[in-house]
Amino acid sequence: MAFPVLGFFVLLLLLVGGTIASDNDDSAFDKNYEVTWGNDHVLSLNQGREIQLSLDSHSGSGFGSYLKYSSGFFHMRMKIPGNNSTAGVITTFYLTSKTSRHDELDFEFLGNAEGEAITLQTNVFVNGVGGREQRIDLWFDPTSNFHDYKLLWNPHQIVFFIDDTPIRVFNNYTNLGVPYPTQPMRIEATLWNGDWASPQKINWAYAPFRARYQGFDISGCSTQSSNVEECYKSNYWWNNRNYWELNPTQKQAYENVRKKYMNYDYCNDKPRFPFGLPKECNIQKK
Ligand SMILES: *[C@@H]1O[C@H](CO)[C@@H](O)[C@H](O)[C@H]1NC(C)=O
Ligand SMILES: *[C@@H]1O[C@H](CO)[C@@H](O)[C@H](O)[C@H]1NC(C)=O
Ligand SMILES: *[C@@H]1O[C@H](CO)[C@@H](O)[C@H](O)[C@H]1NC(C)=O
Repeated sequence: MAFPVLGFFVLLLLLVGGTIASDNDDSAFDKNYEVTWGNDHVLSLNQGREIQLSLDSHSGSGFGSYLKYSSGFFHMRMKIPGNNSTAGVITTFYLTSKTSRHDELDFEFLGNAEGEAITLQTNVFVNGVGGREQRIDLWFDPTSNFHDYKLLWNPHQIVFFIDDTPIRVFNNYTNLGVPYPTQPMRIEATLWNGDWASPQKINWAYAPFRARYQGFDISGCSTQSSNVEECYKSNYWWNNRNYWELNPTQKQAYENVRKKYMNYDYCNDKPRFPFGLPKECNIQKK
């Protein structure tokens, strides 16, 4: 009898091993995500390996992770709407606590007129306070190919990446009195009409606008399976020393992006803060 039992365990191990492995490659959408808005504007492609969000004059659409996380290295491969998706067609990928005083980390593509560079805005909210916008002109066309947009979040730093290039760093300066996100956050993605906030109005003759998303595996510590403190431990690879700060190559790439492509940084917008720049601005300038 011993042999079949052993066989059963080997089979079980293989099955469990298989599940863990697939977590790191091409998970289907349903495994980690659900549609949250505009069901009839969401299309699942390639057996759920790709999702298309649409925006027309009736509705936008969006999806979000089932779970909330307290640390991780999150990513989404995205191709954003082309064909005259003017400023106002907003494509997003972000983390949000969805609480009344929310923590949030945003990638927002603001669109642009045909032939002009697409602006990518990032923002950081802590305890309901945002206003930390940075904007860059992208050095590639995000409407023609998929790129990987990533958010590293550990107890030391939050880093926004495009592919492997860091474009923004927000350090944990809690000990210097700078707020840092502490609330569990959900991963969300949306395509919506933000033209109320834009100088250009959407031309609906070019609708529907379509964004494509891939990469639904999640490397994160979910606050359902662990408590928050547990999520800060170094047994999660994104929390270990290699991820506490940028390495020299990353630093150089980051400085290059800031110098060449950044067209707005709240830390340089003195008129906006008559009572002084937010604390983190003065620390990060060193
Ligand atoms: C742009 O429009 C062309 C022609 O209608 C279409 O073939 C193409 O897929 C569209 N591209 C995007 C990114 O929507
Ligand atoms: C984008 O808009 C311009 C100006 O209205 C037009 O000439 C061009 O054909 C449009 N491009 C597409 C792909 O629809
Ligand atoms: C931020 O850093 C402090 C140490 O300076 C640490 O105690 C705290 O847990 C960190 N906060 C988060 C949310 O990771």
